[in-house]
Amino acid sequence: MSDMQDTAAQYFSGREEKRKHAFSGIWGDELHAVFKDVAPYYDVASNVASLGMCRTWRGKFLSAVDLKPGDEVLDVCAGTNAVGIGLLKRQPAARVTAMDRSQEMQDVGQQIARKNGVEIKSVVGDVHKLPFPDNSFDVATLQWASRHLQIVDVFSEVFRVLKPGGRFHHHDMLRPENPVVQSLYSTYLKGCVSATALIFGSGAKARSCRNYFVEAIEMFYSSREITELLEHVGFSPVTAEDAIGGVMANHRATKP
Ligand SMILES: C[S@@+](CC[C@H](N)C(=O)[O-])C[C@H]1O[C@@H](n2cnc3c(N)ncnc32)[C@H](O)[C@@H]1O
Repeated sequence: MSDMQDTAAQYFSGREEKRKHAFSGIWGDELHAVFKDVAPYYDVASNVASLGMCRTWRGKFLSAVDLKPGDEVLDVCAGTNAVGIGLLKRQPAARVTAMDRSQEMQDVGQQIARKNGVEIKSVVGDVHKLPFPDNSFDVATLQWASRHLQIVDVFSEVFRVLKPGGRFHHHDMLRPENPVVQSLYSTYLKGCVSATALIFGSGAKARSCRNYFVEAIEMFYSSREITELLEHVGFSPVTAEDAIGGVMANHRATKP
């Protein structure tokens, strides 16, 4: 390992340790209970909480995915399968495998897939260890979930299961580098999460995670750092399209 790679490895492992220390208590059973609770209304609630922007951003993410007929796609943390369904509507000759830890989110996702006339293979499990051989997918997607993960580990797993030339498309809410944007964003998020919990009558678990959803972003990576992290894992080239002052970004990373 070169000195620069060594420094990057130490830097990212330090950041990941801090995130783990702050959130490992929530990332296990507590977050699992939240997604179990919100599964029946997750799609509608996401759209309400984001004032409709969720749908717009989903559309932008889906249209950026480089997809060819016959491609094997892995959607990581697939939730209710919105990404897989959107991709199959665009490219019916692709095959999608969805992986998520929540049986309840996947059950809802399978119902929605059937309603839309598409077939998605479902794998329920923790994405920190992907149960697939090396070099098995052409495309991997991960939208709106990285904040809840040890992402050096998950990005490394995604890299392993992609074929050479395979594309990883990532989209999430990120930590803006500008402190003014970050402060406005945190205030907006606190209000949104509380209002959504109230409107949808969320259970105690979901309500108790309100602060976590904001803190997870405050300790997360900026768009520039996600690019560096993807490069650190081995992807090249990596490109990013930022939005709203770095509040969100679409990253595309290729396995050489
Ligand atoms: C905010 S939802 C996003 C779902 C979907 N990607 C979307 O864009 O709508 C986050 C999902 O990540 C899943 N998740 C969180 N931690 C996980 C883990 N360690 N392994 C697998 N899935 C996980 C949750 O169960 C949940 O379905």
